[in-house]
Amino acid sequence: MDFPALRLRRLRATEALRALVQETRLAPAQLIQPFFIYPGKGMAKPIRSMPGQFQLSVDQALNEIDAAAKAGVRWIMLFGIPARKDPLGSEAYADTGIVQTAVRRIKDRFPEIGIIGDVCLCEFTDHGHCGVVENGAVRNDPTLELLGRTAAALAAAGADIVAPSAMMDGQVGAIRRALDAAGHPDTPILSYAAKFASAFYGPFREAAESAPSFGDRRAYQMPPPNAREAMREIELDIREGADLIMVKPALAYLDIIRAARERFDAPLLAYNVSGEYALVKAAAKEGWIDEGRIVREILTAIRRAGADAIITYFAKEYAAEAAAW
Ligand code: PBG
Repeated sequence: MDFPALRLRRLRATEALRALVQETRLAPAQLIQPFFIYPGKGMAKPIRSMPGQFQLSVDQALNEIDAAAKAGVRWIMLFGIPARKDPLGSEAYADTGIVQTAVRRIKDRFPEIGIIGDVCLCEFTDHGHCGVVENGAVRNDPTLELLGRTAAALAAAGADIVAPSAMMDGQVGAIRRALDAAGHPDTPILSYAAKFASAFYGPFREAAESAPSFGDRRAYQMPPPNAREAMREIELDIREGADLIMVKPALAYLDIIRAARERFDAPLLAYNVSGEYALVKAAAKEGWIDEGRIVREILTAIRRAGADAIITYFAKEYAAEAAAW
């Protein structure tokens, strides 16, 4: 059959037909909303480069999480800005650390909300790097023990999943061993397996106050031009015990998401990062784009590329509208 008997426009004629043949869907249950937790009380400080996002004290975060949950969001990811930073990022793995405290309070109030704890040191170190610094370089192996302790502290506080993002070699294996030794054999690891050294993290570093004080992260995060290397990173992490894998950022890396989907059967997440959010918000503010449609198109594309779930600052916004779609 060929034109004129075959006409693909037939199935595009009405909303009902289009919905019937829609190949890709994204449910609110597949979204994860990040939050930035700040010390103190009664604080909701807008993040300049991320309109609509705030640095929140825990009491304020509870209100925001309530609103997100009411919109249909079931999972959140937590980042913390400690009151004091030091060279070894000790608040990352302290029992009383900002994120551990937040996890306990959130679980207490919303036991049904899933919490993912980011396992990294950059928000907690005074130099802003993701690991232990010696002679101006980030050292891999001494960092592993601290990441293991951070993961165990998050699990002890009640985090449902821990997500290492430091890009140290061997971190997933080290964290698995640390979790098991601390009595958390059932806590899954979501590995930021293919995390690129990206300019799209710019706004996050303002939000988390985690910009490196010298140099950059290119000696540990991946080079953006390398796709095969991303597959090697993912494969290694799965061998070390990653339960879920992630590609980050998402939009400039849809090919990586697709390749990972075809090659690996582990659940695959993508992180629609701060810079991707900022671009949309800035253009929407100017009235240059239709924000709702853009957000829907972007998130659907990440899903179509192969992501099972998406970490995105648009989670609440999307979930609130999803019923209407
Ligand atoms: C911590 C971390 C970063 C992001 C998530 N975890 C920052 C970085 O690596 O510089 C970025 C998230 C975003 O940009 O939204 N290492």
